[in-house]
Amino acid sequence: MKLYQKLAQQLEVPLRDGTLAVGERLPSIRELCAQRHVSPATAMRAYQHLEAQGLIEARPRSGFFLARPPAASIPPLPARARPRVRNTQVDVSDLVFEILESVRDRSVVPLGSAFPAPTLFPWPRLARHLGRSARQMDPWSSVESLAAGHPELRRQIAQRYLRHGVSVSAEQIVITAGALEALTLALQVVTHPGDAVAIEAPSFYGCLQAIEALGLRAVEIPTHPAEGVELGALAQALQRHDIRACWFMTSFQNPLGASMPEEKKRDLVRLLAARGVPLIEDDVYAELHFGSVRPRPAKAFDTAGLVLTCGSFSKCLAPGYRLGWVAAGRHAVALQRRKITSSLATSVPIQEGIASFLQRDAYDAHLARLRQALAAQQTAALRSIERHMAGLCRVLRPEGGYFLWLEFAPGVDTLALHAAALRRGISIAPGPIFSPRREFRNCLRLNCGHPWSPEFDAAVATLAGLVRRTR
Ligand SMILES: Cc1ncc(COP(=O)(O)O)c(C=O)c1O
Repeated sequence: MKLYQKLAQQLEVPLRDGTLAVGERLPSIRELCAQRHVSPATAMRAYQHLEAQGLIEARPRSGFFLARPPAASIPPLPARARPRVRNTQVDVSDLVFEILESVRDRSVVPLGSAFPAPTLFPWPRLARHLGRSARQMDPWSSVESLAAGHPELRRQIAQRYLRHGVSVSAEQIVITAGALEALTLALQVVTHPGDAVAIEAPSFYGCLQAIEALGLRAVEIPTHPAEGVELGALAQALQRHDIRACWFMTSFQNPLGASMPEEKKRDLVRLLAARGVPLIEDDVYAELHFGSVRPRPAKAFDTAGLVLTCGSFSKCLAPGYRLGWVAAGRHAVALQRRKITSSLATSVPIQEGIASFLQRDAYDAHLARLRQALAAQQTAALRSIERHMAGLCRVLRPEGGYFLWLEFAPGVDTLALHAAALRRGISIAPGPIFSPRREFRNCLRLNCGHPWSPEFDAAVATLAGLVRRTR
């Protein structure tokens, strides 16, 4: 970590914990240099870093001040808006396919997209690693990497977990074609058709599609927009239903952006371990944190080997390379077997290329830049929402990732809004695609993973106009 990042990290604590009030002035560059024994350039970069995260603002000729968090004053979802626990057959695929089709068109403003801007990733450097490792590849590694994956890549992933305080051995890691394959294989390993699986409400549509495809039933657990799955409701559901697995996102949940506090992750693991229920943990956004520390997955508290935590490089390094993994705990061997019957193995040259990048390139520096860009984009998106949609919707500010969840008044129909917006060249992700019963009709997920240009601001203004007209 660079000196300015360390300094920013130290300065961040009092900014976030309420020690300083909004609008309060921070030490000047000169004062900061004297206090922390750093150069003016380092002090300046640290402030710029915090500014990009929307934590502080520079005022011309006055200095730096604690920024008002945009939209944080918009209240969270009231309790009545949260769904009840329900056991449901899932049937969302047609709707999801129809809506996702729209985000492939480059000319459409991708507010409904699930992907960050492709321009945020280090394509030329990735290509160099891929080319070099393909040229130097030991032909035997095509055999040795069956089926769990390339040993060096598994080791690199295990090492990164270790650095974040999670002890995961390379042996329990299985490399997959993206997190989606990891999650689906995990689900296959711990369930049989007809079983009940606890999911979040709302939940990632990929989870709903997997449940649908495997003939499982979904038990929806109310999910708090800031703190994730409600454990009281989960405990009740575990008593009432024969739940065979849970599929949850514990950090930067898609679509809400919710993150469970560490204590809650620990309690979740305890609750499930007491009943021997496996947790399939979708952790694909955890590296996209705006705070200084990567949130630890629930896997960090797993002593029984019951957490199957799934990750991916799709969102943080190499979209389209289709590289993910699962750290499968006590289910690792079953998972390897399932991988063989599913796709035998994951592309070896791609694994070698990414392993080489992790080993030799500046992955952390790339991540730091990516996080900074996403945090700045989120701030800009929230400001657009405040400007154009004040009084129209509620929104929370997730501490990472690139999604915002907007809740409008009950009469607003985001499926109709989606159709109307698409005619104007704008996509959105309407709430019903995140629900087996097509609920959350007055909600939508908005992507802020793209550099926030006037075009995006204008798209938010257009959406606001459409909502006003339909109310
Ligand atoms: C929550 C969530 N999980 C999993 C995935 C799939 O990740 P991958 O592209 O690595 O398969 C996505 C992709 O959109 C996602 O949003």
